[in-house]
Amino acid sequence: MEINELINHAKEASKLSYSPYSKFAVGALVTTKDGKYFYGANIENAAYPSGICAERCALYHAYMHGYKKDDLDSLIIIADSDSLPYPCGACRQVISELFPLDGKVFVANFKGDYLQTNIKELLPYIFSSSNLE
Ligand code: THU
Repeated sequence: MEINELINHAKEASKLSYSPYSKFAVGALVTTKDGKYFYGANIENAAYPSGICAERCALYHAYMHGYKKDDLDSLIIIADSDSLPYPCGACRQVISELFPLDGKVFVANFKGDYLQTNIKELLPYIFSSSNLE
C-alpha cells in the first residue's frame, strides 16, 4: 500500500478514537504481507493508565486475526497535529516484540507531513526475550 493510501486509512482509524480526556485522537494501521490491514485508535479511560495507544491497538488487532510478526509489512501512526506523533516508550517496546525489526514504520499528520523509520531506529538497545536467558 502506498503512503497516501496508508494515510487515508489511518485517518479513518483515528475517527474511531475514544479520547475524551486528552482530546488527542490518534489513528494507526497495520498492513500485512498478504494485503490485509487492521485499524487501531487510542482508547482512553477515566483511570488514565488503563487506556491504550493507537499503534498497540492496531498491532493487537492484527494478532487477533492470526497474524504474527513476520506476516506484517507496515505500521502507520497519524494525528491531526503540527508535529509527528512518535510512538511512546511503551509502544516502542511492544512494536519491538510484535513487529519486524526492519518493518516500515511511518509517522504522519493530517497536513501530509510524514517520516519513514523502523523500530531499530526508534528503540536502540532493545530489551527482548534474549535478555531473559
Ligand atoms: N497516543 C497514541 O495513541 N499514540 C502515540 O503515538 C502517542 C500518544 C495517545 C495516548 C493518549 O490517548 C493520547 O494519545 C495522549 O497522549
